[in-house]
Amino acid sequence: MRGLFITFEGIDGSGKSTQIGRLRDHLVDKGYKVVLTREPGGTSIGEKIRKLLLDRENSGMHPLTELFLYLASRVQHTSEFIIPHLEQGVTVISDRFHDSSVAYQGGGRGIGVEAVEKLRNFATLGLEPDITFYLDIDPTLARERMVSRMFDRLEAEKLDFYQRIRNAYNKLLRIYPNRIKLIDASGTPDDVWKRIERHIEHLWKDRRSR
Ligand SMILES: Nc1ncnc2c1ncn2[C@@H]1O[C@H](COP(=O)(O)OP(=O)(O)OP(=O)(O)O)[C@@H](O)[C@H]1O
Ligand SMILES: [Mg+2]
Repeated sequence: MRGLFITFEGIDGSGKSTQIGRLRDHLVDKGYKVVLTREPGGTSIGEKIRKLLLDRENSGMHPLTELFLYLASRVQHTSEFIIPHLEQGVTVISDRFHDSSVAYQGGGRGIGVEAVEKLRNFATLGLEPDITFYLDIDPTLARERMVSRMFDRLEAEKLDFYQRIRNAYNKLLRIYPNRIKLIDASGTPDDVWKRIERHIEHLWKDRRSR
């Protein structure tokens, strides 16, 4: 059977990496084969694109250049890594996917949610996640969680940039009410994990009944 494709979304510091680790451990305990990957990146071409995107020296990058670099890295990631794993029956958990382009470049950079939404099928080769966890958090709280970290180019943006991203994620929740699960990302890592775990039980039940 084809593997499940699970994605995590949310602003920087919302707790994606923390919860992905928990989900992976949970699924491995249950006997599933799981691989983790992240955007932009996940392939050697993608990792090179990632370096261009996160380099603070590239502060003059045009928003559309940024968008197309993310889309280019996604095509490679999807064709070279995600689809082959799913076909081998492996569950793939990705830290970000096309929803992040809609939120960051569409909302944050002002290109427009609808404009980036139109490019979805090119970048993803038509692949949709089986389920997406959107970790929703107040940008001020997310920033407090990250105070000790060195900020890269994207993280150094102002809070209103993150507010626009959050608004774009809220639009996506309305466009994809079945696929995207809204997860309150406040509270302890245990609190957040309990909210995610409830959906995971349903996911495999739904699949067995199909
Ligand atoms: N529920 C939580 N409560 C408090 N701190 C948390 C919680 N979840 C994660 N953290 C801490 O907050 C910081 C950010 O979490 P994490 O790295 O998981 O977020 P992220 O969404 O992956 O961020 P990024 O998008 O920058 O990769 C980390 O130092 C992590 O240990
Ligand atoms: Mg992370």
